[in-house]
This record gives sequence, structure tokens and C-alpha cells, in this order.
Amino acid sequence: MCLSLVESATLDWAPIVSETSDASDITIRPATPADAEAISRLVGDLSRRFITPDYSALGAATLLSHQTPEAIAKCLDEGMHYLVAEADGVLVGAAGLIRERRHLYHLFVAADRQGQGIGRLLWAELTTGLESGQITVNSSRVAIGFYERLGFRSSGPPWEKDGVVAWPMVWNPPPAQTPAAAENLSCS
Ligand SMILES: CC(C)(COP(=O)(O)OP(=O)(O)OC[C@H]1O[C@@H](n2cnc3c(N)ncnc32)[C@H](O)[C@@H]1OP(=O)(O)O)[C@@H](O)C(=O)NCCC(=O)NCCS
Repeated sequence: MCLSLVESATLDWAPIVSETSDASDITIRPATPADAEAISRLVGDLSRRFITPDYSALGAATLLSHQTPEAIAKCLDEGMHYLVAEADGVLVGAAGLIRERRHLYHLFVAADRQGQGIGRLLWAELTTGLESGQITVNSSRVAIGFYERLGFRSSGPPWEKDGVVAWPMVWNPPPAQTPAAAENLSCS
């Protein structure tokens, strides 16, 4: 399969306009098994809208098979660090990190709440307290620009498996400030 390069894959992006303009009403909490159904619905709906239209039928079926309530429940059961974002008790975001592999597995925000900082908030919460080091993600085509804003960079050409296409990216922590560099920055 011929896949375009990451640089040429980024899309023009503008958030869908909604009445709520920021993330001030958002609560973030760890997901529980009782959330599996709602997470599956959110993530599946977003995948059908933003990701699988680019895929073959095989790719769509493969991706969605990893997003069933059972598949989500299994992730939670296996101890994935998984958070949900809620507004007035309604699930509007979901994010999962495989801590041992330092791999961002899911990051999804409801279409009418995108562009309000919820994705960035989920990322910040997900990585709070995590030991410093690289974090990887296999980005969808639509999310490349978002990950770049978070500081991720392309780590290779897009790959395809069972019809699922992804853009590998990596996030590196900012270099630690040396005492000398800190001195140079001080006001004295
Ligand atoms: C990608 C996604 C999680 C981003 O969530 P979000 O809540 O809309 O993102 P935020 O509002 O926190 O945006 C953070 C920054 O990225 C920018 N941004 C968000 N989406 C972007 C995009 N698609 N392209 C370029 N920039 C984007 C925002 O302008 C913002 O910039 P700034 O704060 O540096 O000024 C969300 O759009 C989504 O769920 N998309 C569909 C599903 C998907 O593809 N998920 C990724 C699976 S790997």
C-alpha cells in the first residue's frame, strides 16, 4: 500500500463550534468497568466519523473490534491507566496510557467539545506523576496536528496492519535544565 508521508498528511483543522468554549466544566477521573459501554460508544462514534472513512472495510472492522465494550473492559481489567472526562455527568473524553510500554493507546474528545483544551487536559492528567522519558503514540491522520501541538514528533513513516493505518510519533521530555543554564536565565 502506498502511504503519503506524515508531513503531507496533516489536515487543515478547525474545531466544530459549540456553545461551550473551554474546559472549565470538565471533571477528569479514572475510568471504571461501569464506563466501558459509554467509552466504547464515544470512541467508536468518533472513529467512524474521523478515522475509518479513510480506511478499507477490513481496516474499519479491525479498528472497531478493538473498541467494543468488551475490549475496553479488558484494557481496564489489565490495568491500563485510563481516564475519562465528564461534563455534567456526560462522558466527553477518554484517554488510555499503557504505562509499562509508555504508549498512549487512546485519546478521544467528543466532536462538539473539540478545540476547547480537553485533549490537552487529558494528556496532562494522564502523564502526571509518570517517570520522565519517551512516550509513543500511533496517531490517526486527523490527530497528527494535535499531537504536534503537544510536542510529539514523527518517528517514522506511516504503517498499515490489517487495514489500520497509523502515523507513529514520539514525545520526548524537555531537556532538564542544567545549573549553568538556570544561572544564565536568572535575573541577577
Ligand atoms: C485529537 C483530539 C483528541 C484532540 O482533542 P481536543 O480536545 O480537540 O484538543 P485540544 O483542544 O486540547 O487542543 C490542544 C491543541 O491542539 C490543537 N489541535 C487540536 N486538534 C488539532 C488538529 N486536529 N490539528 C491541529 N491542531 C489541533 C488545538 O488548537 C490546541 O492548540 P494550542 O492549545 O496549542 O493552541 C480530538 O480532536 C479527537 O478526538 N479527534 C478524533 C479522534 C482521534 O483521531 N483521536 C486520536 C486517536 S490516535
